[in-house]
Amino acid sequence: MRFGHFDDGQREYVITQPNTPLPWINYLGCESYFGLISNTAGGYSFYRDARLRRLTRYRYNNAPFDFGGRYLYLRDNDTGKFWSPSWQPTRTKLDKYECRHGMGYTTIGSTCNQIEAQTTYFVPLGETLEIWKFQVTNRRKKPARLSLFSSIEFCLWDAQDDATNFQRNFSTGQVEIVDGVIYHKTEYRERRNHFAYFACSEKLAGYDTQRDTFLGAYRSWDNPAAVEQGKSFNSVAHGWAPHGSHHVKVNLKPGETKEIIFVLGYHENPVDKKFDPPDSQTINKKTVKPVIAKYLDAKNVAAAFQTLRENWDGLLGVYQVESPDVHANRMVNIWNAYQCMATFNMSRSASFYESGIGRGLGFRDSNQDLLGFVQMVPARARERILDIAATQLKSGGAFHQYQPLTKRGNNDIGSGFNDDPHWLILGVAAYLKETGDWGILDEPVQFENEPGSEQPLYEHLRRSFNYTLERIGPHGLPLIGRADWNDCLNLNCFSDTPGQSFQTTTNKDGTTAESVFIAGLFVMAGKELAAIAQRYQVGSARCADRTPQRSVPTSNTEAERCLAETAKMEKVIYQHGWDGDWFIRAYDDFSKPIGSKVCKEGKIFIESQGMCVMAGIGLKDGKAKRALDSVNKHLATKHGIVLQQPAFTKYYIEMGEISSYPPGYKENAGIFCHNNPWIIISETMVGNGNRAFDYYTRINPSAREKIGDLHRCEPYVFAQMIAGKDAPTHGEAKNSWLTGTAAWTYFTVTQWILGIRTDYDGLRVDPVIPAKWKGFTVTRRFRGNTYVIEVKNPKGKQRGVKKLLVNGKEIAGNVLPVRPPGSKPVRVEAVLEG
Ligand code: GLC
Ligand code: GLC
Repeated sequence: MRFGHFDDGQREYVITQPNTPLPWINYLGCESYFGLISNTAGGYSFYRDARLRRLTRYRYNNAPFDFGGRYLYLRDNDTGKFWSPSWQPTRTKLDKYECRHGMGYTTIGSTCNQIEAQTTYFVPLGETLEIWKFQVTNRRKKPARLSLFSSIEFCLWDAQDDATNFQRNFSTGQVEIVDGVIYHKTEYRERRNHFAYFACSEKLAGYDTQRDTFLGAYRSWDNPAAVEQGKSFNSVAHGWAPHGSHHVKVNLKPGETKEIIFVLGYHENPVDKKFDPPDSQTINKKTVKPVIAKYLDAKNVAAAFQTLRENWDGLLGVYQVESPDVHANRMVNIWNAYQCMATFNMSRSASFYESGIGRGLGFRDSNQDLLGFVQMVPARARERILDIAATQLKSGGAFHQYQPLTKRGNNDIGSGFNDDPHWLILGVAAYLKETGDWGILDEPVQFENEPGSEQPLYEHLRRSFNYTLERIGPHGLPLIGRADWNDCLNLNCFSDTPGQSFQTTTNKDGTTAESVFIAGLFVMAGKELAAIAQRYQVGSARCADRTPQRSVPTSNTEAERCLAETAKMEKVIYQHGWDGDWFIRAYDDFSKPIGSKVCKEGKIFIESQGMCVMAGIGLKDGKAKRALDSVNKHLATKHGIVLQQPAFTKYYIEMGEISSYPPGYKENAGIFCHNNPWIIISETMVGNGNRAFDYYTRINPSAREKIGDLHRCEPYVFAQMIAGKDAPTHGEAKNSWLTGTAAWTYFTVTQWILGIRTDYDGLRVDPVIPAKWKGFTVTRRFRGNTYVIEVKNPKGKQRGVKKLLVNGKEIAGNVLPVRPPGSKPVRVEAVLEG
C-alpha cells in the first residue's frame, strides 16, 4: 500500500493522506538554522544545536504522536467551525489533502469547507529564520469571513533543561510584543544575547503569548479557547509557557486568494548592544527589524524560494544518472543525496527518533557522513574535518561525540571506542579524492581543543593509525575498547545493573577482547594512509602549485611502514580471524570467538565480512567470495541483510547491549542498513553486479514504497533499521533519516555499482552492474570539469571496462586523469566487455 507518490520532475514526494503510518518528515534549513517538519506540520526548530539552542517545543513520544509544530487554524466566523489546514492538530476531516516534501521546503495544502489553503515552509539561504507562506482561496460562491490563527510554543533554549527543570522554568519566561511582532526573550536579561521572534505580514486582530491563555485550562491544541471563540486574549507571557499566536481576520470574495506570511526567526545582538535604550531591559531591535521587514514582503519571499531551488539544482547537479532503474535514479539524483545533506548537518541529533537532546555529532558517524556529502559542498566538508580532528585525543583516540555549538568533545560519553580514529583517515581520504586539496594535510589542528597543541592534520592521521598499533590483544588483533562500529558489542562492559550505560560502563581492564572488524578497518585505513603518504609533500598548503603533478610520490618510508603493518594484520586475520567459511567477528574477554561456528548464537556477523573484503582481504584466494556466499546463505533476507545469525535469544553479560534487544531488532539480528552497503561494495569487488544491485534494491526505500504499510517509514529516505527475520514485524523500518546508511548507500551506488569513483589522481570508471542493463549515463562534476560518461554494455556483462574513449580518443586504463578546469563537458564512452 502507498500513501503518496514521487514527483521526480519537481524533486518532491507527494503524500496524499495525512495519517501516514508514522510522521513522514522533512528538514528545513541546511546551514545554521534548522527545522524538522512532518507531513502534518509537526516538528520544531533550532539554531545550530538541537539541544542547546532550541527555538520551539516538541512533545516526544506523544499520543497522538507528532505533537508540537508550526500550526495554523482557520475559523469560519459565520459558523464558528474551525480546522487545521495541515490536519494536525485538530484532525478535522479534510476534503482534499496533499503534502509535498521537497528539497529544503515542505508545502502542505488542503481544502475544507470549500476553503483552499496552502502553506509553504522554508528557510531562506543565508538567514536564521523560517518562512511560512500561507495562501488561502475562497472556493465558495459567496463571501467568506475567516479568522486565521498561528501557533507555536517557544522552547526556553536548552531543550533538556526545558523539558525537566520546571521549578525554574515556570518563572523565567519573558516576551515583548511590538508592532505585531512577538519577541521571545527568556534569559535575555542575563547571559543570552539571542532571542526569537515570530512576525506576521498582516494587521493583527489580536495575539496571545501565554500558552495556557491561548489554549484555556485543560485544553489542548485541538481546541484552543482563542480559536474556538474566534478571539485572541492579548495575553503577555510572564513565566509559565511563552507561546506565539497571531490572529488575522481574512475576508474573501468568491474565488479570491490572499497570501499571508509568517516569519519565525533567531537573532543575536552584540553583547554591548543588547538593550535599547542601553539602560533599559528592552531588546535592541535595530538589526532585526530590517530582516523581518524583508521577509514579510511577498516579492522577497518568492525570490528567496527561487534561490533555494536553484541552489539545489547546483548541489544535485554534481552527480546525475540515467539508468534502467527508476528507483536507483531517483535515489541518486534526488533523495539519497538530499538525505546525505541532512545527515551531514544533523549527524544523529534530531529526527523523529533522535530527540535532539541526546547525542551531538559522532566522531565516527560524521566522518562516514562525509562519504556521501563531500562532493556537494567540499568547503563545508573541509571545515567539518578540521572540527572533528580538533576533538581527537593526543593518544590518537577520539571523543566519541561532540556538541556542534561548542565544537568540543562530550565528556559524558568520553572515548575508548577503538574504531573511531580510523574513520578520520577514511573521511580525509574521501575529501582528498574529491578535491585534490592536499593543503588540508598541512592545516594546524589542535588535539582535545587545547590551544598550543596544534599539529598538521597529517599528524592526526598518523596518530589514528598508530592508536591501533598501540592497542593489540592476545591474538595480535586490535583491542575493541568500549565498542567498535557496533556500539552494542560491549565486550568489556559486563553490566548487571539496570540503567547503566552499556557504552560507558567498563568492568574489565580491556586487555583481552579483540575486534576482527577493527582489524579489517585498520587494513583499509592503513592502505589509504599509505596512498596519502606516497603523494603528500610537507608544506603543500603553502605551495601555490596545486596541479595534479604535485602529487608525485616523494618519500615512501611512511607508506611502506603502513603497508608493512597492514600486511602483518592481514596475516593475523587469516590466522585468527577466519573461521573456515567466513570471518570471525571478535574475541570476548575470555578470548572466546564471537561470530564463529563454535558459537551457539551469533555464529556469523555481517560487519567483519564487509569490512575485511572491502579492505581487500581474501580477494585473491577465494576467501572473499566464500565469505560473501556465507552472507548470502545465512544473513540475506528479502528485506535486506541481517546483522547476525542466529539472533541472541537471551542476555549475555559478556556481549553487552547487543543481546539486550529482542531478536530481530537493531544490532541483534535486525537489518542494520548501514552495513548492507559494505556487502554490496564487496560484491562489486568480486564482480558480482547482479547480486550487488539486488541487495541494494532490497533496502532502497523507493523500491519499498509499494509495501508502505509494512515498511511504515518514509519511502524517500533510508532507515537505519528494518526488522530482521526473527522479529514479528519482519520488514518494518525504524529510525529513518539520520543514519550512516545515507552516506554509505550513496557512496556505494554512485562509486561502486555505477562505478564512477573518485581517486587521488582522477576519476575512475569501473561499473559493476546487473548483466541485464544495456548501459547508463552519468553526468559528474569533478575538479572543475563536467564529465558526461556513457557506459555501454552490449554483451550483457557485469563488469570490466575494456575501452574508454575521452572526447572520442581512446585512453589506456580506466582512470580519467585530472585535467585543467573547462567549461565544455568532457564526453566519455566506456564499453563493458567483461
Ligand atoms: C548507530 C550509531 C553508529 C553505530 C551504529 C551501530 O548508527 O550512530 O555510530 O556505528 O549505530 O551500532
Ligand atoms: C547505536 C545503536 C543503538 C545504541 C546506541 C548507543 O545507535 O544503534 O542500539 O543504543 O548506538 O549509543
